[in-house]
Amino acid sequence: MINQLSKGLSLCLILLTILSCSERADQSNLEDQTENKIDSLLSLMTIDEKIGQLTLFTSDYDVTGPTMREGYIEDIKSGKVGAIFNAYGVDYTTKLQKIAIEETRLGIPLLFGYDVIHGHKTIFPISLGESSTWDLALIEKAARIAAIEASAEGLHWTFAPMVDISRDPRWGRVSEGSGEDTYLGAAIAKARVRGFQGSDLKETNTILATAKHFAAYGAALAGRDYNTVDMSDRVLRETYLPPFKAALDEGVATFMTSFNEVDGIPASGSKYLLNDILRDEWKFNGFVVTDYTSINEMIAHGFSTDLKNAAEQAINAGVDMDMQGAAYYDHLKELVSESKVSEKTIDQAVRNVLRMKFKLGLFDDPYRYSNKEREQSQVFTKEHLESAREVARASQVLLKNDNVLPISKDVKTIALIGPMGNNRRDLIGSWSAAGDWSKAVTLLEGIKEKLGSNTKIIQVNGSDVEGNDQSEFNRAIAAARNADVVILALGENYWMSGEAASRSNLDLPGVQKELAEAVLKVGKPTVTVLMNGRPLTIEWLDNSSDAILETWFAGTQAGHAIADVLFGDYNPSGKLTMSFPRNVGQIPIFYNNKNTGRPMTDEKYTSKYLDVSNDPLYPFGFGLSYTSFEYNNLKLSADKININDSLKVIVDITNTGDLDGEEVVQLYIQDLVGSVTRPVKELKGFQKIALNSGETKSITFTITEQDLAFYTASMDFKAEAGEFKIFVGGNSRDVIESKFTLNK
Ligand code: BGC
Repeated sequence: MINQLSKGLSLCLILLTILSCSERADQSNLEDQTENKIDSLLSLMTIDEKIGQLTLFTSDYDVTGPTMREGYIEDIKSGKVGAIFNAYGVDYTTKLQKIAIEETRLGIPLLFGYDVIHGHKTIFPISLGESSTWDLALIEKAARIAAIEASAEGLHWTFAPMVDISRDPRWGRVSEGSGEDTYLGAAIAKARVRGFQGSDLKETNTILATAKHFAAYGAALAGRDYNTVDMSDRVLRETYLPPFKAALDEGVATFMTSFNEVDGIPASGSKYLLNDILRDEWKFNGFVVTDYTSINEMIAHGFSTDLKNAAEQAINAGVDMDMQGAAYYDHLKELVSESKVSEKTIDQAVRNVLRMKFKLGLFDDPYRYSNKEREQSQVFTKEHLESAREVARASQVLLKNDNVLPISKDVKTIALIGPMGNNRRDLIGSWSAAGDWSKAVTLLEGIKEKLGSNTKIIQVNGSDVEGNDQSEFNRAIAAARNADVVILALGENYWMSGEAASRSNLDLPGVQKELAEAVLKVGKPTVTVLMNGRPLTIEWLDNSSDAILETWFAGTQAGHAIADVLFGDYNPSGKLTMSFPRNVGQIPIFYNNKNTGRPMTDEKYTSKYLDVSNDPLYPFGFGLSYTSFEYNNLKLSADKININDSLKVIVDITNTGDLDGEEVVQLYIQDLVGSVTRPVKELKGFQKIALNSGETKSITFTITEQDLAFYTASMDFKAEAGEFKIFVGGNSRDVIESKFTLNK
């Protein structure tokens, strides 16, 4: 019997191998065919047409929709532009595509790109919010829906995911990323690439994804956007590059260079980043696009003498496509004629771009994304809105709860106070693509719909987000006096995070703190709902509000999703992916720091501040639930392992509260001694699990060499023998621990 079984199994294995071999053979045949087709096409192309394929120009918006900048239509006709961004909608993209197909000499299809970041028309929470779900399936689903909608509107390509790690909440672009951690950031990068690109780019509901901004943009000095980045190669490779590599492993089609310099070289001119790492080490075979005019900016960086010089540096460094800078458009031809750039280099860049147009099937049918019927039926659908609500609920992080949440649905009077309570404009956050903010559900609407007419809701703004006007404070105080529960809805405007939106002060803007203090003095049970694009400094609020719910900018369904949490229809499960500092002086603050030679104690001469503790207000991974969880029985499968062994980490988690709930179980390691020092904790695994009240589940993690490896003193990526600690818990601070040894 056993023999038969094993025969059956080996037959299966042989069949599987043959099948996957033949699949692989098919795949490589297809790739060869594509390369042959590209060869033929290249042999027909003039130098101008080739440079056209390396040129990306923006469309503009008009009240009636997108329009082309003067001269661009002529450029499309003469084959001098190969890709357009910021144009969407089937009518418009089809019109432009028709020009490219019917009026150019070779009829090479245009590629349409756009910043589809957290939804296209149906807007999901900002990316930082989505990351707080720690739910890769949900994150993938959000990207999938964004791709379905974007592709239905004629788009082929999104400038996402943004995979920049950042430890500095002053930087406004943290709202677009997945927070401070490399391991989590890499996992989310993969989920988003899967979501956008689907399983086959030939499907018309998939779009090319872009890993951006390559590289280390999130480490801008002082959190100031576009600022200088300087770091060791070790930190670059260990902390900032892995999410890019993860995106590449998942098949990401394109990379976007960053605006910043790294080690004195602007990214768009960096042979090290684009050629040595991306092409030579990582074997990337998609194309590299610059960020907006970043070739031109190499002049201001002090790296290029003029635009011609910048174009030469960029193409020779490995930039394939020039976004909006017209550096290639204006200068590449001359550079080739002067032999400063070889035609081989140009051909390689064109090849990289054409390959993606082939992959999308645009040479089979350039109008595959021009389907009016799809545009009408697949955008902003009921199912998409339900998913947006699902993700928005899961992205909220309960930061504090002194028994006031969830609020009973029988509550008689609620005072909804603060500039975000009836705010619609800000809810879809920054980079909200084709999202229409006027379709977003406000918190007031969400609460009203949930509670119906039995509850009286007194809504008072109290103040604006910005400004000094306190004239509505008295009305706000009166509303609080007349209420059973107060909901304070506070936050930032949507434009205060995102690009060019760094802040040096992370307090609530305007007089919102004063408003909150005046309302809190009334003494009613008070829940603060925050809507913002980054961690804020809210220690005072933590000391005074009974509950705090971080909702980020939750997207089109914000009001419904927040009401679901406030009134207990959804038990919050989100966890922070960025530490919340106590004050700006603690920044950069992140959980995986080093111990230093003088770790903080009560002694004076240790690594600390005189005026604030080293701890963040809320640590990475933190988030409460309406129930509680207990971690017990942490066991390791061995206390000593060899390098090729894997180690099982087993832990019991019990839901000790009265409600069913979800918990993100987090696993961290610490390598106690290394040839280079290692962080005090590093996330190496997480699982989001559902537990009924009273239920216990045993969870297993597997640790392999890969999880223990790092860039050693000799810059080899490998694990070193010695002692390791294992920590498991519901956040990076409150953990139980064990130890094991990795044998020599
Ligand atoms: C941003 C990119 C974006 C591009 C195109 C730039 O300013 O840095 O993230 O993709 O514009 O809109």
